[in-house]
Amino acid sequence: MNKQTTNKQIKRIAVLTSGGDAPGMNAAIRAVVRTALAQGIEVIGVMSGFKGLTEGMFYTEQTSLTDELQEAYPFISNVINKNQTMSSKSVSQIIGKPGTILRTSRFKEFEYKNVRAIAIDNLREKEIDALVVIGGNGSYRGAHLIAQEAPDIQVVGIPATIDNDIEWTMETIGFDTAAKSLSNHCDDIRSTAASHDRVFVIGAMGRHAGDLALKAGVASGVEAILIPEFAVSDEQLHRMLKKKLSKDRAYALVMVAEGVETPGETAERLKSLGYEVRTSDLGHAQRGGKPTSRDRTLATFMGQKAVHLLLEGQSDVAVSFDGRGYIAIPFEQIFTQKDEEKHKILVTEYQAYQEITHEEQIVPTE
Ligand code: F6P
Repeated sequence: MNKQTTNKQIKRIAVLTSGGDAPGMNAAIRAVVRTALAQGIEVIGVMSGFKGLTEGMFYTEQTSLTDELQEAYPFISNVINKNQTMSSKSVSQIIGKPGTILRTSRFKEFEYKNVRAIAIDNLREKEIDALVVIGGNGSYRGAHLIAQEAPDIQVVGIPATIDNDIEWTMETIGFDTAAKSLSNHCDDIRSTAASHDRVFVIGAMGRHAGDLALKAGVASGVEAILIPEFAVSDEQLHRMLKKKLSKDRAYALVMVAEGVETPGETAERLKSLGYEVRTSDLGHAQRGGKPTSRDRTLATFMGQKAVHLLLEGQSDVAVSFDGRGYIAIPFEQIFTQKDEEKHKILVTEYQAYQEITHEEQIVPTE
């Protein structure tokens, strides 16, 4: 359960980004830093997620020497690396930048308790009272373990992943931008598909979730969407495409989520049904677009909320957007309980799209 440690005064927090980068992470860092500063709290930036925390890699700012100093001391390199706390200026002009200024990593070794102990020592050595972890499910696991193993350090998570696969938050930072990039990609493919009368299979990231494929597929009006939450047989796929293809319009776009199969595998299925097929996979560029206004605002309000949860004495929780506002959800609940409402919306939306596109209804897999 989340713990309340209301009596402790927070003087210094650390912030890190972890796991796959997501557009909007920078906006979240900015909001955390600026809210903390507004509350008189110092912020230490941790570089490269839990790996950097374990290796003691902290944010430093490169400050150029003034011209006068450079002239007086020509032998000194004109850049000083200062290990320092983050200022308002450290996060200036980053709200619209993709990626993360704090860098990120996937750090498998963090599953070992003795590795985490080093990271916790580093936090204590820097006199850090609280940690904000911006990332997805894997990052939340690391955050939860720190909260459990270092009760003197409060820990709050902020959901950031293009997959939108975190339980108990309606949306994650980065999802909207990735859906936009992917639907733009479909728009670009449509003209070449039409010119050649071909079927194109487009791959969507999303790990085990169909959210990204569904949102991008609907937004670009693709002819068929394959997501893990609905099993579409070869016969059903054939029927779906046959209806759309005619002498005058012999092309189609099929969106397939990585949780179903690769675009190459879908292409093989379609080839064996007699279609001329090509594949197109935007790959990691799905994570690379400039964050949309939706992701920038979501990240901003979540970052502000994270600091306030810390001030309230909350720990071992993550910020969540429940459709109406920003609330705290214990990590434990995120790991152990399925948000049925959220999953129901995805099912309803898939079925709605089938109706809009005059397709037969498919039965959800669960
Ligand atoms: O979690 C984000 C994500 O982009 C998933 O959609 C994808 O399965 C995975 O990360 C790819 O991971 P990596 O960047 O390590 O190849």
